[in-house]
Amino acid sequence: MIASANGVRIGITGLGVNVPDRVMTNDDLCQFVDTTDEWIQERTGIRERRIAADDEALTDIALPAARRALADAGVDGKDIDLLISATVTPDMMFPTSSALMADALGARDAAAYDLLAGCTGFVYAIAQAYGMLAAGLSRRSLVVGGDVLSKILDWDDRSTLVLFGDGAGAVVMEPVDHGGFLGFELGADGAGGHHLQLPGSGSRVFEDPDSILKMNGREVFKFATRVMVSSAEAVLAQCGRTVEEIDVYVPHQANKRIIDYATAKLGVPPERTVVNVDRFGNTSSGSIPLALQDARDDGRLRDGSLVLMTGMGAGLTWGSALIEWTERRG
Ligand code: ACO
Repeated sequence: MIASANGVRIGITGLGVNVPDRVMTNDDLCQFVDTTDEWIQERTGIRERRIAADDEALTDIALPAARRALADAGVDGKDIDLLISATVTPDMMFPTSSALMADALGARDAAAYDLLAGCTGFVYAIAQAYGMLAAGLSRRSLVVGGDVLSKILDWDDRSTLVLFGDGAGAVVMEPVDHGGFLGFELGADGAGGHHLQLPGSGSRVFEDPDSILKMNGREVFKFATRVMVSSAEAVLAQCGRTVEEIDVYVPHQANKRIIDYATAKLGVPPERTVVNVDRFGNTSSGSIPLALQDARDDGRLRDGSLVLMTGMGAGLTWGSALIEWTERRG
């Protein structure tokens, strides 16, 4: 699916993130699996990640991010009429994490649902919220992206354990008087779905009904390097923009090598590319909002900045969003 904005200016007016307190370094992971700090840094660029406490679930981590996004937008939970939570690790399948968060935030009039699109969940969710807002079905939406992948990892599997971390981010979306989303490109390829799966997590009966993440890293790597480039190029072309115009490139933080490949192939200079995979690992749907927050904190996200976000993940899925950032509101 590819589409440019329909003329209604919808932007991000609030941003907030949150990660668990516990820091786990590469050396810490050597307690669990046969690996080294050197191997992990060289193959992935990751130095450390945040890991949830035993009693922390998704909403414990995502709610502070949501509250920060609301405060940043200067609104309350009651002012939200749509809450989408993009996650593959909700507290439980139902009640949904979105319904639990809507209640906790006092968003009593909000429609609330969870969205499953792997690590691309956040990009899919902002596209959905855009559609609801542009069509007039929602007046102000809250999109939460977050995952607690540590709960579904195989802590004996060195090929997956070292890649992932926990974290969440949230954005408030509403009509703006300048800037806003320009377009989206979203896709899915279920034929490659078995390369990254959580068997035993649904209604399909398996001989070996594991509820831990299984991944063919090499295949996912090939897929990722392909779609990170093709999706970005497609949304830019759709919106009549060029790579040279991108001020801030926010790729999904899966692996520094994937990011380096995409930036080189696209021609985005490193100083315009946000990288925090070294500090957080791959936080799935939390990854893009966490990177947006870093770009804002270091002063790169300015009013009018052209921002390209591209994600990819389980499904297999991918997605890009192009936005002119609205920092000065009013
Ligand atoms: N420490 C030490 N050795 C390891 C580790 C580790 N943590 N993990 C694997 N190895 C070993 C393997 O066993 C293998 O050994 P062998 O040659 O004796 O069999 C060797 O290292 C090389 O393994 P490869 O899989 O070829 O290593 P590669 O260079 O491909 O790197 C990696 C593996 C990092 C997983 C890479 O394939 C990758 O990043 N893939 C993409 C993964 C990804 O991004 N997933 C998430 C995307 S979707 C989402 O966000 C949910």
